Amino acid sequence: MMAETKKERHGSGANEAKAQKEAAPSRGQKETLMDVAIRRSILIPSSEIYGSPAGFYDYGPVGCAIKRKIEDLWRQEFLQKDGFHEIETAIILPEAVLKASGHAENFADPLVSCPSCKNKFRADHLLAENADAKKDGVNAEGLPPQKLSGLLSRYKAKCPACGKGGLSEVGWFNLMFKTNIGPIEGNTAYCRPETAQGIFLDFARIVRNYGSRLPIGIGQVGRSFRNEISPRQGSLRRREFTQMELEYFFNPSDQSHPNFGKIKHEKLRFANGNRHENIEIGKAVSEGLIPNEIMAYFLYKQKILYLAVGIPEERFAFRRMPPEETPHYSRGNIDLEVETSSGVVETVGTAYRTDYDLSCHAKATGIDLSVFVEEEKKRIIPHVVEPSMGADRLFWCVLDSCFRARGTGGKEWDWFDFPPAIAPYHAWVFPLMKKEGLDEKAREAEAMLRESGLTVYYQESGSIGRRYARADEIGVPYCITIDFDTLSDGTATLRFRNDGKQVRVKLGELAGKIASFVKEGKVGG
Ligand code: GAP
Repeated sequence: MMAETKKERHGSGANEAKAQKEAAPSRGQKETLMDVAIRRSILIPSSEIYGSPAGFYDYGPVGCAIKRKIEDLWRQEFLQKDGFHEIETAIILPEAVLKASGHAENFADPLVSCPSCKNKFRADHLLAENADAKKDGVNAEGLPPQKLSGLLSRYKAKCPACGKGGLSEVGWFNLMFKTNIGPIEGNTAYCRPETAQGIFLDFARIVRNYGSRLPIGIGQVGRSFRNEISPRQGSLRRREFTQMELEYFFNPSDQSHPNFGKIKHEKLRFANGNRHENIEIGKAVSEGLIPNEIMAYFLYKQKILYLAVGIPEERFAFRRMPPEETPHYSRGNIDLEVETSSGVVETVGTAYRTDYDLSCHAKATGIDLSVFVEEEKKRIIPHVVEPSMGADRLFWCVLDSCFRARGTGGKEWDWFDFPPAIAPYHAWVFPLMKKEGLDEKAREAEAMLRESGLTVYYQESGSIGRRYARADEIGVPYCITIDFDTLSDGTATLRFRNDGKQVRVKLGELAGKIASFVKEGKVGG
């Protein structure tokens, strides 16, 4: 049973606020959020002590815990709820696979070099940053090299590094990391540029084991690699990143989805240019904005997941991509974009991949990748709808959405308002002081909470206010303080992150209470 609320029972954390003022970030710039993320070891630039090559970031303990929870929520929403399969496939793929899939030929970005300083840039990005091209509304994405060369010279584009003009002609740069399998030269392979290919390669075997009745969903969470030309967007454009991809294999003669009836009256927020509109899912499908019911179902799932991880609905929108921005394998793409303090970020690409990949691999290997459709008494190559979500981009958007600057919620320090389901720890446990058995009792409470499956962290140094502030700074939803009353009546103080309210809870009831607060998303008293 909870006892009465005792506001700020163990101090306000004002000293921590003073300590933080020096490096105080102000909201609104990605550099600021990156400063906070790095200072708190949420993210760590990879190989930092050797100079941190661009496009690689590690996750510290806090970042790692949040990312894992986001990935697990994806698994729950996209796999477990629909009874789909999860697999884990090799990262290194033989060249033949990527030749067949089209990546060896098509997976490239336009490259331009500066003859003076020898730096290299993405040609379309230089145009996107050119003030005159911007004024003329030039959209360079997806343009071929010749057109890009013409535009760069028309707008007198200069090298962003040395400021000189006369940039080279634009050429293609393939984004795949190349390697060699074993010591025999010529056994070329690549780090996979998407996790999807492994799923297509294993499809036939999974069908053999689980039956060929369509639809079949197979998902994977894993690393992908793209040797981005000049990744300058902090953690957003990485050379190594995690994708959460589902390949949904279905019979193209039936593009309905059994759950469509349940979601067709729900609304999705769509972007069209700079305008946004909430559109009923049924209407979006009947008017062709969404290609089919299947795709609609997976867009709706994206909305559910984004709300669960703390991105409010007014911050994200779906956008139907124009053909020039649609990948080579897709008959229609809808991206999910999130509005962040560093601009609009594409975090999911949902593609109607048709039978493109299975057909390519069947042709290249001579292996039959069709399935028998009992009702039609014939073999078909299934079609695929693929929601492909970037875990690192979603992670960054979650940080951005949940960041609360000092002053918010009456706090004198900046903090994160993570939903408890993705917070890095369920609770922090403190002894009020390190004496008279309080620390031992707190250790007992910590062990008991851990035993019940909660992630907890024990912290005994610093004033109690400072410890609360530190927990807030990384978004821990609940703090448990063991004090002298605990020794006499067996209760502890449970403090809620968002409003600092405190209640007394019996030690034996703590784990159950915290678990149900996490489930409810309760972050205030
Ligand atoms: N299998 C389809 C595919 O890979 P994509 O649109 O190229 O499609 C899907 O990538 C998602 O992967 C993107 O929406 C983004 O979230 C993430 N992603 C792609 N390139 C990335 C990069 N360089 N750094 C971080 N995330 C990236």
